[in-house]
Amino acid sequence: MCQECKKKFYITTPIYYPSGNMHIGHTYTTVAADTMTRFKRLTGHDAYFLTGTDEHGQKIEMKAAEAGVTPKEFVDKIVAETKKLWELMNIQYDDFIRTTDERHEKIVQKIFRQFYEQGDIYKSEYEGMYCTPCESFWTPSQLVEKNGEKVCPDCGRPCQPMKEESYFFRMSKYQDWLIDYIETHPDFIQPAARANEMLNNFLRPGLQDLCVSRTSFKWGVPVDFDDKHVVYVWIDALSNYITALGYGTDHDELMQKYWPANVHLVGKEIVRFHTIYWPIMLHALGLELPKQVFGHGWLLFGGDRMAKSKGNVQYAQPIVARYGCDALRYYLMREMPFGADGNYTNEAFLTRMNADLANDLGNLVSRTVAMIEKYFGGVVPAWTDAVDAELDKPLHEHCAALPSLVEAQMDKLQYSQALAEIWKVIGECNKYIDLTQPWILGKDPAKKDRLANVLLTLAECVRYVAVLIYPFMPTTPERIFQQLGVTDEALKTWDSLATFGQLPEGTKVCKGEALFPRIDVKKELEVLNPSQPEEAPKAEPKQEKKAEKKQEKKHEEPEYPAEINIDTFFQSKIQVGRVLECTNVPKSKKLLQFRLSFGKDGERTILSGIAQYYPDPAALVGKQIVAITNLKPRMMMGIESHGMILSAVDGNDNLRLVSVGEGVEDGAIVG
Ligand code: MSP
Repeated sequence: MCQECKKKFYITTPIYYPSGNMHIGHTYTTVAADTMTRFKRLTGHDAYFLTGTDEHGQKIEMKAAEAGVTPKEFVDKIVAETKKLWELMNIQYDDFIRTTDERHEKIVQKIFRQFYEQGDIYKSEYEGMYCTPCESFWTPSQLVEKNGEKVCPDCGRPCQPMKEESYFFRMSKYQDWLIDYIETHPDFIQPAARANEMLNNFLRPGLQDLCVSRTSFKWGVPVDFDDKHVVYVWIDALSNYITALGYGTDHDELMQKYWPANVHLVGKEIVRFHTIYWPIMLHALGLELPKQVFGHGWLLFGGDRMAKSKGNVQYAQPIVARYGCDALRYYLMREMPFGADGNYTNEAFLTRMNADLANDLGNLVSRTVAMIEKYFGGVVPAWTDAVDAELDKPLHEHCAALPSLVEAQMDKLQYSQALAEIWKVIGECNKYIDLTQPWILGKDPAKKDRLANVLLTLAECVRYVAVLIYPFMPTTPERIFQQLGVTDEALKTWDSLATFGQLPEGTKVCKGEALFPRIDVKKELEVLNPSQPEEAPKAEPKQEKKAEKKQEKKHEEPEYPAEINIDTFFQSKIQVGRVLECTNVPKSKKLLQFRLSFGKDGERTILSGIAQYYPDPAALVGKQIVAITNLKPRMMMGIESHGMILSAVDGNDNLRLVSVGEGVEDGAIVG
């Protein structure tokens, strides 16, 4: 198809803060965007993929000062590392925009001025609580209480009162228009639940005007008509999606060609900015809105969001160095439905690698190739009449339908489901081998025709699988094609999957190395865990043990003061929580890991040293318990515990969890 006739597809990732190196969470979004780009290209689209970095702001200014370098020097280094990481992950972006690029800064100034001139931006004064690390102002009602202190609802750190002259964007003016837009465009915000969240939590209660400039720091795009001010975060950051396309310049061909974006991929925490501020900005500029903003879930680590600020990060590099980038890409796209949160653990990664890649896929390829070598001298035979309709037909039909099954899932950004569809066929092929028993057919020369069809069926299915996994695992298909002997590029395309049975007679297979060798999960875990950068320092296990010991000893009677002040009691936030999950902590005899719901206060993970009393921890699921929820988080056995579950124990070692009886909402305060 000619380039001009192809359907356009423009996809973006968030531009990441280069305040530290990118971890596996950033890698997750970027792999998702790359996978989709590759899929669109495979299916004949003209796809354009933008990523980049969001480099301004007080946090970067401060980090650079700490490091004794200029902000630009600071971000340059991280950007270079980021680009290396994307290369390692086989990310093929078309453009990498930096908010410090001149092409970006100039247009941000122009956009800001236009908003001001058309009355969307006005000058006033801002007064509020400010969280420096998150660069966010919060209203008093948005702050949450922690250890008796009002802290940032995002990162849990203290906020400071701040007053400052600022420019504001009149968001409220566009509120009704946006409500109507979201209500009439059900695909705009995905997953749909996030649209309701935006409507109910932000839009319908009334939009606040947005602070869009700052005077308290300098590291930003200067407002060109008021040089005391720099443009503050969201106008600068969000505009990247159009400045990268040349919007507002004489060379806006890319803008003409690709805007509106088909999808902005973002983590769920920034859906609000992309579905409220960004549409309003675009509308004010007279531009079309992106067709979709997809807010995916978080990769959690030990039940908590992985984040640099929390120090519980996992990086891609050591994993890729040991198992290759395709294995990690596969895991990221397969493990959790796009849109939902999921825990990252090395153990789950390694287990999946063995099961899905080494066993299911790897074995299918090696058995197919080995049998063609053994029974047909390594040359793919011709189809014969020896068909077993009952066995062959369903597999042929399923495999022929596979491209459309995968496409249907990819159209919904359901990466994990798309892979599940492919793996269903892989599973069916392995079952087909068991049922047709080629090794028995191979013993009887009269069954050679039947054997030819069986092996051809398998080889053709393997070819389908190789074509279809390409967007997810870009380097594996070529290794499969080499083993299958497929050299004709036409047989590696989406179009070649239009009819089943294209693999030509006479193709010479060539057995190669195992695609994914089976690994010893236990051994690998020992290798992987200490090699993680920013992992707990060596002293940590001791601390963890200490913490666990403390938990063990908690039933020993401490020495109480004779009297305490009532205020001391009220410093503890005691709440009713409901058990969502309860499991034993691996390698710990004492600890149970609880996932608890505290109603509108959200969910948290709490560890409790009561495993010996609950041989069947799952039986606690659904029960209400009582816990202190404002204790300082504590690491135990590599998991962060966010509170303490209350229980009573007597001298005969009878333990009961404290409860308040049913009828009280989850999250209710005890006191
Ligand atoms: N600079 C802003 C975005 C501006 S976009 C116009 C920003 N940067 S960030 O560095 O904090 O990156 C946040 C994004 O990184 C998330 O929205 C998500 O895409 C990705 N992730 C970071 N941590 C993640 C997880 N733990 N899990 C999944 N994705 C994560 O926000």
